[in-house]
Amino acid sequence: MNSIRAFAPATVANVACGFDIFGFAIEAPGDVVEIRRRDEPGVVIKEITGDEGRLPRNAEKNAVTVVMLHLLKHLGIKDFGAEVVLHKNMPLGSGMGSSAASAVAGVVAMNELLGNPLSRQELLPFAMEGEKIASGSAHADNVGPSLLGGFVVIRSYNPLDIFTIPVPDDLYCTLVHPDIEINTKDARFILRSEVSLKNTIAQMGNVAGLVAGLMKSDYELIGRSMVDVIIEPVRSILIPEFNVVKLAAIENGALGCSISGSGPSMFALSKGKANAESAGLAMQQKFADAGIESSMHVSAINKNGAAIL
Ligand code: HSE
Repeated sequence: MNSIRAFAPATVANVACGFDIFGFAIEAPGDVVEIRRRDEPGVVIKEITGDEGRLPRNAEKNAVTVVMLHLLKHLGIKDFGAEVVLHKNMPLGSGMGSSAASAVAGVVAMNELLGNPLSRQELLPFAMEGEKIASGSAHADNVGPSLLGGFVVIRSYNPLDIFTIPVPDDLYCTLVHPDIEINTKDARFILRSEVSLKNTIAQMGNVAGLVAGLMKSDYELIGRSMVDVIIEPVRSILIPEFNVVKLAAIENGALGCSISGSGPSMFALSKGKANAESAGLAMQQKFADAGIESSMHVSAINKNGAAIL
């Protein structure tokens, strides 16, 4: 095969209490990468659509191609290269794992072009390099679920220990993106580096509760555990109407609601699609009342992650 198209889905990172350690994939939207083998070595960006010209066209500076260059170098491939087209299907700085989706689609496409020398798990460190280029930090809670699918837990970064856990079939995600932009680098910079023992205890309880709730299909426990006492109180200040929107979600069918990744998107989890939709409409209405346009995606948890098209 000389030409490959790969899709990688948007993701919700952190999932309230699990900063940098929890993330899950949704069905859509997602980025699509097309690559074509060329006889010259190296990787060139032929075209990017959907980014309004904002992403770097230099292959060494764009997450989608940095991952490919790392993979080619790792495998010692010097006698051919690829040209790349990236279709961005989600906004930049949205909290939907936009840079991760590009990096994952890129590394999956290149691996396929090379005949799949590496497994999905083995591709993860390469995708994390792309995340680092794009957001300044090699966190895996977006690239992990976008690559592997499902609900991902990162038990440890060094050494990397990452796995998926089962989720109830009737669990639905609502993702609402208000039309504002937050840069992940900035949203990480404002966080405090020290955490009190009291907040650590509360957060650990919720992390354990969320994992148990998902694995036992205990929806009430999932809802009770979607509480973040460390990150959300700081970052929510960047999202206009955050508290009003969150309350609207919970009063209209959601089990819980928090910031998706570094925001500004907000996500809710609900039992059943109807609850997820009514929560989402209520969230959008609250943003609209404040004069903020938004878009909404309702999706089951995507169990497959990235795919070759
Ligand atoms: N865990 C990361 C953060 C995700 O919250 O900064 C960024 O999408």
